[in-house]
Amino acid sequence: MKPIACDVLVIGAGAAGLMCALTAGQRGRMVQVIDHANKVGKKILMSGGGRCNFTNTGTTPANFLSANPHFCKSALARYTPWHFIEMVERHGIAYHEKELGQLFCDISSKQIVRMLMDECQAAGVQVRTDCGVTKVERGSDGFHVTTAQGQFHAASLVVATGGLSIPSLGASGFGYELARQFGHEVLPTRAGLVPLTLSGKHQERFNDRSGVALPITARCNDVAFSNSMLITHRGISGPAILQISSFWQPGDDLRLDLLPGQDAEGWLRAMKRDRGAAELRTVLSEVLPRRLALRLCEHWLPDRPVKQIDEPQLREAAALLQGFPLVASGTEGYRTAEVTLGGVDTRKVSSSTFESQLVPGLHFVGEVLDVTGWLGGYNFQWAWASGHAAGQVV
Ligand code: FDA
Repeated sequence: MKPIACDVLVIGAGAAGLMCALTAGQRGRMVQVIDHANKVGKKILMSGGGRCNFTNTGTTPANFLSANPHFCKSALARYTPWHFIEMVERHGIAYHEKELGQLFCDISSKQIVRMLMDECQAAGVQVRTDCGVTKVERGSDGFHVTTAQGQFHAASLVVATGGLSIPSLGASGFGYELARQFGHEVLPTRAGLVPLTLSGKHQERFNDRSGVALPITARCNDVAFSNSMLITHRGISGPAILQISSFWQPGDDLRLDLLPGQDAEGWLRAMKRDRGAAELRTVLSEVLPRRLALRLCEHWLPDRPVKQIDEPQLREAAALLQGFPLVASGTEGYRTAEVTLGGVDTRKVSSSTFESQLVPGLHFVGEVLDVTGWLGGYNFQWAWASGHAAGQVV
């Protein structure tokens, strides 16, 4: 069978791949997109609880983790959240801000996938699903790619295969293997934006409290996130924990402020003065979920009337409430992680064109690169911005 010839072959019909394809298509390039999954944009469909947190209006380079923190700056500056919002509005998709600049569809994340596919179609881009890749070779005339649907031949090859998170949604390590094949280094990967697991004493003491949710500030390695936490059967989750999980590694000190924005010492003194006869568990249940307050008083805090708590004990209790040392044993792993930290080392990739500095015509975009955003729409903004940057030059 004759190879399918095109200017640009994009591997991966996710957020970054589709954005790259439609941008290149709009420039008149002949673009093919292939994906081994049976549907395009599966992560987009799943995201934001089905409503896709498609960007964050407060996006800055500081919202991303990478061994090369400057790498993301150029693309983010050239394709901002407002560019993406303009497309969303042009397609009549209603959206709202949930909190902290996070924009969600009012109705469904399907609308974002439809928008990208409509843009691809209008730009003449061909998208194929169920199209796994078996071999990639580079000759003097470009890339030869063998797939389940035949051979492709393209001058430019864009790797947009994402990270390892959620294999059931099509995630694979293919992009990393391809990068290595062409001499690129892949920095160690690990699950990010992921629930943490507990073991031993902490697991025993918290697992029957699952379902308890409260606002906290989580601190680790000089980084802090204030948001809610949820106790689960296996450990802890919720936005504050997902955020801090990207900064945590086994053995790192993790502290939870259970009374964020409050002065626990001052509050305990006021309780001693005004409600001395009340048990600590009673007054604590007024500022924390009761099931958690009871458990804290059973194991960690003085379980007695507040007036009987002496000054050193009071200071100790306040320190514990504002810096609870939670011992996490690990993470839930790629099975539930929203993102993959690490990936293709950006030091051998152009930050303006996303072209490999080792192999002309080879580009990497999106999460396959060692650039990972915080929770809150930043990861999609990175996919749009990097896909757009590559789409302008391929
Ligand atoms: P993405 O993973 O989107 O796409 C990669 C594509 O490559 C997939 O279609 C896959 O099938 C394909 N592929 C992989 N291997 C292949 C191979 N060997 N051959 C062919 N094709 C292959 N972010 C955010 O900003 N806001 C949010 O609300 C959420 N919510 C969210 C929820 C959940 C459950 C997850 C798992 C993740 C999020 N994220 C998120 C993160 C966000 O989804 C993610 O960062 C982007 O989708 C990354 O875009 P990419 O295009 O790089 O990869």
